[in-house]
Amino acid sequence: MVDTKVDLCGITLDNPVIAASGTFGYGYEFAELYDINCLGTFSFKGTTLEPRYGNDVPRIAECPSGMLNSVGLQNPGVDAVIAEELPKLRKSFHKPVMANVSGFSTEEYAEVTRRLDESDMSDMIGWFEINISCPNVHGGGMSFGTDPMMAGEVVKAVRKVTEKPLIIKLSPNVTDIVAIAKACEDSGADGVSLINTLMGMRFDLKTGKPLLANITGGLSGPAVLPVALRMVYQVANSVDIPVVGMGGISSADDVLEMMMAGATAVEVGAANLTDPFACRDIITKLPHVMDKYGVKTLRSGI
Ligand SMILES: Cc1cc2nc3c(=O)[nH]c(=O)nc-3n(C[C@H](O)[C@H](O)[C@H](O)COP(=O)(O)O)c2cc1C
Repeated sequence: MVDTKVDLCGITLDNPVIAASGTFGYGYEFAELYDINCLGTFSFKGTTLEPRYGNDVPRIAECPSGMLNSVGLQNPGVDAVIAEELPKLRKSFHKPVMANVSGFSTEEYAEVTRRLDESDMSDMIGWFEINISCPNVHGGGMSFGTDPMMAGEVVKAVRKVTEKPLIIKLSPNVTDIVAIAKACEDSGADGVSLINTLMGMRFDLKTGKPLLANITGGLSGPAVLPVALRMVYQVANSVDIPVVGMGGISSADDVLEMMMAGATAVEVGAANLTDPFACRDIITKLPHVMDKYGVKTLRSGI
């Protein structure tokens, strides 16, 4: 028998598969399709202080082996997440969840984290995933994740308001992702997760205009897997904190490959949008794939 369990910042996951933020809502929608307790866990939709309607449509464009999105952090705001979304989730999910936090200022990141941490839903939260890498909003998001000093400031501010593990979500849209990861580690992060989407665009041949109303969007899906593997490998070899690897994972083989690159756990994003059962099926197949490649445990790196 193989052992699929992994430890992420002091919490044991039954398996390393985490549904990625923005592709799994607040979980309960997927609970109507299957028992989501089979997941390692999931990262809920990026949550901001105020409600956000997101960017204008069209905000999705298909690409060969992937997709572009420019959703722009649509979410009901932290107070509604605490009052409405998490109580619904509590009924169907009985594991610690990853709380994905976004912001437009250092203070906002800290305030959203503080409200979640001090709320009566706090016991549901295992980790905070601080998204400093959203490419689809202006004046926030990715601008914090492309500068080591700004990234460090966000980490320090959030560190002050919670004792839960802090996982900082990094952007691939940088020259040196290792420098950002190290700045996060030095500022008190317990882990990093990567990659968020790669900035891209497409044009409508009939109009000659960009397909997305936001003009640019973030590329994800199988097309980005090699980029993600390279960045996870570089970061995992440079920091002493766990790395959650994501970008293009759509099979149990991909999970193993990402862990070989140095990831402690993995997230699965766009695959949930093409097949809502993707995470469940990957988890079912993982022990067989481990067996096939002679991998007995995932805990100590493979
Ligand atoms: C439609 C969509 C919405 C997303 N929203 C968020 C978000 O709110 N917060 C976040 O940290 N990442 C968000 N992401 C990024 C994913 O969590 C993930 O980092 C990225 O898509 C790469 O993984 P993948 O190739 O498996 O999709 C979003 C991705 C997609 C496709």
